[in-house]
Amino acid sequence: MEFSSASPAETEAVAGRLARELAAGDVVTVSGELGSGKTTFVRGACREFGITAHVTSPTFTVGHRYPGDPDVSHLDLFRFQGVSAAEWGDLEPYFEDAICFVEWPEAAAGALPPVRVEVRLSHMDPTHRLITLESSEEALLDGIFGGADSRF
Ligand SMILES: Nc1ncnc2c1ncn2[C@@H]1O[C@H](COP(=O)(O)OP(=O)(O)O)[C@@H](O)[C@H]1O
Ligand SMILES: [Mg+2]
Repeated sequence: MEFSSASPAETEAVAGRLARELAAGDVVTVSGELGSGKTTFVRGACREFGITAHVTSPTFTVGHRYPGDPDVSHLDLFRFQGVSAAEWGDLEPYFEDAICFVEWPEAAAGALPPVRVEVRLSHMDPTHRLITLESSEEALLDGIFGGADSRF
C-alpha cells in the first residue's frame, strides 16, 4: 500500500492511521534514507497513543520508550551488525508490552521478533515523501483507509 505525503503533518497522519490498527507486542520496521521522515512517522504514531513527549531519533542510545496507552518504543539499530545474546538482553525490554518501531532493521540481520508491518519512506522532492506499508495481513492494511483510495 502506497501513500504520497505532501508534508510532515501528512506523514504523521498516515502513521496515526496505522497506529490505530496496532497493539502491544507489535513490531513495525521503518526504513528509509536520512531525512526521509522515519522519526516524523514514529512521532505521528506516538501522538495517536496520547504520547506528547518530544520524539527524536535515538542517536546516543539504542532506543527510547515512551509511556502511553500502550507504550511505544523507538529503536535505532544503525550501529548493529547482527544481534548478540548480550545485545538482545538490552533490546528485549523495548519489545515487552509495547509497540516497537525499529529504524535500520536490516542491521539486526533477522534477529528481530516477527515483524507485523514494514514501512518504507523515500524522497520524491523536498516536501513529498512516498510511504509504503507492507504486511502479510491484508485486513490490517484494509483497516488503515477502509480499503478506499490509497492516496492520502
Ligand atoms: N512529507 C514529509 N514527510 C516527512 N518529513 C518531511 C516531509 N516533507 C519535509 N519533511 C522534512 O524532512 C525531515 C524528516 O526528518 P526525520 O523525520 O528526522 O527523518 P529521518 O528520521 O528519516 O532521518 C524533517 O525535517 C521534515 O520536516
Ligand atoms: Mg530519524
